[in-house]
Amino acid sequence: MTTSKLQNELVIDLRSDTLTQPTAAMREAIASASVGDEQKREDPTVNELERRGAEFLGQEEAVFLPTATMANQIALQILGRPGDALLVERHAHIMLSELGGPAVHSGLLTIGLQGTSGRFSPDQVVAEIRDRTSVHVAPTRIVAVENTHNSAGGRVWPLDEIDAIVATCREHDLAAHLDGARLVNAATACGVEPARIGRGFDTVTLCFSKGLGCPLGALIAGSSELMVKARRGKHFFGGAMRQAGIVAAAALYALDHHVDRIADDHARARRLGEGLAAAGLSVDPGQAETNFVQIDVGPDRAAAIDRLKERGVLVSTTVHPSVVRAVTHLDISDDDIETALEAIPDALLVLERR
Ligand SMILES: Cc1ncc(COP(=O)(O)O)c(C=O)c1O
Repeated sequence: MTTSKLQNELVIDLRSDTLTQPTAAMREAIASASVGDEQKREDPTVNELERRGAEFLGQEEAVFLPTATMANQIALQILGRPGDALLVERHAHIMLSELGGPAVHSGLLTIGLQGTSGRFSPDQVVAEIRDRTSVHVAPTRIVAVENTHNSAGGRVWPLDEIDAIVATCREHDLAAHLDGARLVNAATACGVEPARIGRGFDTVTLCFSKGLGCPLGALIAGSSELMVKARRGKHFFGGAMRQAGIVAAAALYALDHHVDRIADDHARARRLGEGLAAAGLSVDPGQAETNFVQIDVGPDRAAAIDRLKERGVLVSTTVHPSVVRAVTHLDISDDDIETALEAIPDALLVLERR
């Protein structure tokens, strides 16, 4: 059984897929990595990861970075110019959780689009395209899509909707960025390779420290021309490293061993969502398209989280004031799900009866 220790008790930690511990085999891959000076492009493991990562994401070239936030911020910096406008769903990570980075690092005006399950339509994009000859308005230049969409509950963009957004960007000369921190979850849910989704975009972010189970690491991918700029951006952000093959080895290991198993996380989330709904909790099992289950716990969310914690289950808050989320990942087993299916209704239905 699982997962992390809290106050000396074993707990089922469903707060996030970022909490995974590197497996013994991943640690072995890390320990035996060949390394060199990454800034000089002399780290063979990083070079191999960038080569494979580009292919994996359907792009010409990829650049290894410490975090997905840095990947997003570099992408926006190289796609726009100060004074340009960026369109993004209003609860996207770029909008809510990157400290206003697009304004700080790139001088971008960010416009939040009202999404449905984290998605928006070509019409919404077209409605925000501004007159580029105007001396008053910030011209719209970049559209960023998040897939899967974190705060919507790990929701997935259907392929035809992604294609339609990309086509709209092409038609209107807009750059298209994909925050694919959880792109492997999205691709798994759609039954396609990540490259099928990534290839249409100008830039793509992939994170290794979420469902892929690495301690850290991310990629930005795009055309070779854009990746020259991304490498400069990486240095500007202080992300150019040295013997980073130590970390890239974990990412290569994950590409070999942790991609196919993402489907198990999804099956466990589905089982959890269906079980909680059957137990009478306010859960829409259809929402659990990937590895997130959203539970509406009512107005006193803090009390619900405490009560769950007493029962040994950790969940986290979401942008929706009465909703918590339970996230499945590498360190959550089938047994953990069965245990959670007993503990969560016990904890929450007791609260409801009070
Ligand atoms: C959709 C999305 N993008 C980007 C990030 C940023 O990842 P990192 O914490 O590696 O910077 C996250 C992290 O939760 C995320 O959910």
